[in-house]
Amino acid sequence: MEVISDPLGWQEAMEAARRRGQQVGLVPTMGSLHAGHLSLVRRARADCDLVAVTNYVNPLQFGAGEDLEAYPRDLEADATMAASVGADVMFAPSVEEMWPVAPGTTVHVAGISDVLEGECRPGHLDGVATIVAKLLSLAGQCRAYFGEKDFQQLVVIRRMARDLSLPVCIVGCPIVRTTDGLALSSRNAYLSSDELDAAPSLYWSLLAGKRAIEDRGETDPAIVAKEMESELGRQPHFSLEYAAVVDPETLEVPVRAEAPVRLLIAARLGRARLIDNLAAAPPGASE
Ligand code: PAJ
Repeated sequence: MEVISDPLGWQEAMEAARRRGQQVGLVPTMGSLHAGHLSLVRRARADCDLVAVTNYVNPLQFGAGEDLEAYPRDLEADATMAASVGADVMFAPSVEEMWPVAPGTTVHVAGISDVLEGECRPGHLDGVATIVAKLLSLAGQCRAYFGEKDFQQLVVIRRMARDLSLPVCIVGCPIVRTTDGLALSSRNAYLSSDELDAAPSLYWSLLAGKRAIEDRGETDPAIVAKEMESELGRQPHFSLEYAAVVDPETLEVPVRAEAPVRLLIAARLGRARLIDNLAAAPPGASE
């Protein structure tokens, strides 16, 4: 597998692939690859002729005091893992190569970027939208694969691609979890072994919300969110940031959960801030 760091070189490689008649599959990541990332690469491999993984820890999406410096980085291990599941090329630019001149442009998707993660991490989703717009612009026409793990990010990217008529098909892929339910995340590396034992509670809390909707027929989003909150409250190591029941497209809280919804949760555990989510559909409404 080829590793390219020069943005124009990578842009040319993507154009050359299309000239050969190849469908390009793009998997944007910040590296520190795990089985969740690899599921996206496998999906791209199954759908496309040329699979490009991007590996760039994007400073624009880290707030002051967040973990930009601590974020795990290992290009060699990432390249080996990506190649092992069939990636053809990895784009891994330095910050200076990506932005020889500091960016004057910010992409902001109004409304859906301002709630949930937008409230807890101001500017984060703008940093994501800006870098993804740049990566998609360099990649050109392609299918681009994103995990539902970062559900709000996926909704924001879909909307941005539609608003800007980017020649890209955005593909959402299911969350990969450990057998005890913890969603895989590069940030799980920050957890101690005790914290790792406690971490699946985040998923149990989502399951409690899903049961309230699907088994008990609860339609009040506030009651479902409270249920999620009290389930997480049983685990004292966690400090909750939000538990929410939202419309999967607008991310607005519905008056009644009478159509399929998304349950979203964010909490701190030790040094790590973890997020997770789950689909739920009231009886009679299919997901
Ligand atoms: P990163 O956190 O590295 O994630 C890269 C992609 O992998 C994202 O689409 C994310 O949703 C997906 N992913 C992470 N964990 C997953 C899991 N357990 N199951 C399924 N998919 C999973 O998300 C980012 O990087 C950045 O914000 C990025 C989009 C690359 C922009 O910088």
